[in-house]
Amino acid sequence: MNVLVTGGMGYIGSHTCIQMIEAGMTPVIFDNLYNSKETVLQRIEDVSGSKPEFVNGDVRNKALLIETMKRFNIESVIHFAGLKAVGESVAKPLEYYDNNVNGTLVLVDAMREAGVKSIIFSSSATVYGDPATVPITESFPTSATNPYGHSKLMVEECLTDFQKANPDWSIVLLRYFNPVGSHPTGKLGEDPQGIPNNLMPFVSQVAVGRREFLSVFGSDYPTKDGTGVRDYIHVVDLADGHVVALDKIGKKSGLHIYNLGTGNGYSVLDMVKAFEVASGKRIPYKLVERRPGDIAECWADPSKAQKDLGWKAKRTLEDMTRDSWLWQSNNPDGYPE
Ligand code: NAD
Ligand code: UFG
Repeated sequence: MNVLVTGGMGYIGSHTCIQMIEAGMTPVIFDNLYNSKETVLQRIEDVSGSKPEFVNGDVRNKALLIETMKRFNIESVIHFAGLKAVGESVAKPLEYYDNNVNGTLVLVDAMREAGVKSIIFSSSATVYGDPATVPITESFPTSATNPYGHSKLMVEECLTDFQKANPDWSIVLLRYFNPVGSHPTGKLGEDPQGIPNNLMPFVSQVAVGRREFLSVFGSDYPTKDGTGVRDYIHVVDLADGHVVALDKIGKKSGLHIYNLGTGNGYSVLDMVKAFEVASGKRIPYKLVERRPGDIAECWADPSKAQKDLGWKAKRTLEDMTRDSWLWQSNNPDGYPE
């Protein structure tokens, strides 16, 4: 099956391409390299033995999308492309709505013209806002507190309305919890530009000596140790979730929504300790003020994906921290240009 993977050069997309190739699928990557480097393609080949076709393009370029879908006989789309930094979205809302919302509308319009009726969209647990309780099921109310979250919610709503009007389409909304880790070969991983926003890339950079210490945002949350609790999921488990979704429901018309998480909550300090064990390095940290917009706890009830798709995250906290460290220690400055 030929699948257009928008944003396939990025963190989650590149790992998904590898799992797809291993499952016998053919990814065709469509990415404008805004937040990734072309060397990723070589790494995908090194690991999987196959170099995907790559089109350097923007998802707001409808004509190029249509041409690409026709040229490669695309049957389904996995849509990762977009901007993802919460803080930046507050400063640049227009860019976020244009890339994430407009980009998706152009893509779906192009799919319609090319006759492709199956899409998996990268959504986020951020659409649950500050949940009243945990674990979170797919039927929880949705809300957003920043432009990034709004953009994800808007896309979910657009796609839901579109699917109602076009009942023969298959639309899958995958709500990711906190993706971490890297490929177990250490050849692919997360390569944030500038100061990392997310916990694990920051911790990895402290371990490798690029940063002096970690700031732990808040130690007075109503959690077991006062620090924020999240559902960290190994990026390869997440990638497998896409392969299974494509295989099981990529051709089944309807709107399908799934949480992709492990169902386990770990605190910031749990993650720091686990990383220290995996790396053998001490991670100096300072307890500082809460980060505005953060919530105390967020973890998934992943049982719907298990029941319908037979998918369950398999990799442990030890796997996540070991693989993160392997990637970071082998590639202290990320991907080469
Ligand atoms: P990433 O930045 O590593 O990958 C995104 C890729 O999309 C990059 O290669 C970038 O160059 C490309 N891109 C951006 N705008 C584009 C455009 N207009 N046209 C073509 N390509 C474009 O991000 P990621 O962590 O792999 O995330 C992938 C998706 O998953 C995003 O939609 C993100 O919002 C969503 N998501 C990520 C997380 C997370 O914590 N990483 C959590 C929940 C949801
Ligand atoms: N944290 C720190 N120090 C840091 C970075 C993070 O203490 O330097 C803490 C946060 O306060 C939080 C936890 O580590 O308690 C995780 O923070 P991340 O920034 O790694 O992840 P978030 O849960 O805040 O956000 C992630 C994605 C968002 C997505 C959200 C919900 O980055 O895109 O999950 O899916 F919207």
